[in-house]
Amino acid sequence: MKIQALKGFKDILPAESGVWQRIEQTARDVFHRFGFAEIRVPILEKTDLFVRSIGEATDIVEKEMYTFIDRNGVSLSLRPEGTAPVLRAFIEHSLHTLQPVQRLYTIGPMFRHERPQKGRLRQFHQLSVEVLGADHPRLDAEVMAMAWMLLTELGLTVRLEINSLGCPACRPDFKAALENFLADRAGSLCEDCERRRLTNPLRVLDCKSSHCRAQYQTAPAITDYLCPGCADHFAAVEQGLDLLGIPATRNKFMVRGLDYYTRTTFELVTDQLGAQSAVGAGGRYDGLVAQLDGPKLPGIGFGMGMERLALLLTEQVGASAPAGADLYIAALGPAALERGFQMAHVLRGQGVRVSMEHDGKSLKSQMKQAGRLAARYALILGDEELASGQAVLRNMGAGTQDSLALGDNLHDWAAGLVARIAES
Ligand code: HAM
Repeated sequence: MKIQALKGFKDILPAESGVWQRIEQTARDVFHRFGFAEIRVPILEKTDLFVRSIGEATDIVEKEMYTFIDRNGVSLSLRPEGTAPVLRAFIEHSLHTLQPVQRLYTIGPMFRHERPQKGRLRQFHQLSVEVLGADHPRLDAEVMAMAWMLLTELGLTVRLEINSLGCPACRPDFKAALENFLADRAGSLCEDCERRRLTNPLRVLDCKSSHCRAQYQTAPAITDYLCPGCADHFAAVEQGLDLLGIPATRNKFMVRGLDYYTRTTFELVTDQLGAQSAVGAGGRYDGLVAQLDGPKLPGIGFGMGMERLALLLTEQVGASAPAGADLYIAALGPAALERGFQMAHVLRGQGVRVSMEHDGKSLKSQMKQAGRLAARYALILGDEELASGQAVLRNMGAGTQDSLALGDNLHDWAAGLVARIAES
């Protein structure tokens, strides 16, 4: 039987990895400007961590986790998201004692057994960001502004939608109103909503069925039920976004698929990825650290799906250029191959991206390879050039060429070539 990757698990091939590197480098750069530090946490955790944080009655915990019993009889799960493991590490290492406010990010694979489709995988990757220890509404605006800056620097255009989910003081009133509203419509909702109506009523607002959605147009809005503290917080978040010039629209139906959120929630959405419209999403979770037996500290964060960012980058900005090389050494004959071998090593040591093959193919075939790599320059070196002490340096883009003296000292020669390449 032919061995293939699992359904929903995707290889990121060399032609795509340039886009991924660009996303990752831009993200790190932006996050560092906002004072975030990287934390790397395990991919496997005790199942209980996710049940207690994401929530027992969520789709993720009910039917999407990769869970198994290990050799010691312990239930383990591949992480379906990054917040719970980061908080587990934060609590385990008492990071709050080092700095009262921790700004953390992590980048890596997450696993959810969902039905794969465009932009939805079973192994996907997130840029996952958390701030622990502060609940100022300006921080919420700052975190959203950081996500916005990252997308802007990648050249992407999306919409920012925001909502507030209230707190344990005001949400029960909203929940009761929603339950009444849904009870009046019992029997006319889809199968999922009929079930969620009883297990996790807020989740119905997220239903994709047009029949249910039409009915929910008149459902109570959580923002009408916020207590004064939550209402003030939400107003201040909107004002903060305004101060930074970040355009946001309210979406009263945004409820999020994870149970830990309080107050601010947000999604970065696009119409360009079919059904998978959220490029990123997050919100505040002021009770979660304590719920996981940590100190009573608030938190906020977001996750961005890297597959979706990569798709959108290809769609909105265009495919990436090939990896490329600064210089291709086309060497012909044993002596030139030997000299070229040394030249490539010394040039690489001086920061130049050099490609060359060792099998001395014809000049035509080597120049073809230089073209495939989109090399900026080609150095043509044959036994004749070695004897005369002059090689040929070809500017591949301009199609021009010059002779280049070889000299006796390889390091000095390489430094001269580096300067010359840098000029153009
Ligand atoms: P989430 O909304 O479940 O939130 O996921 C965040 C983002 O991950 C989504 O907006 C989407 O771009 C991407 N994503 C989720 N599932 C998939 C999938 N199956 N395939 C491809 N991309 C996917 C969280 O995970 C929270 N931990 C975010 C957060 C951090 N909230 C506070 N801090």
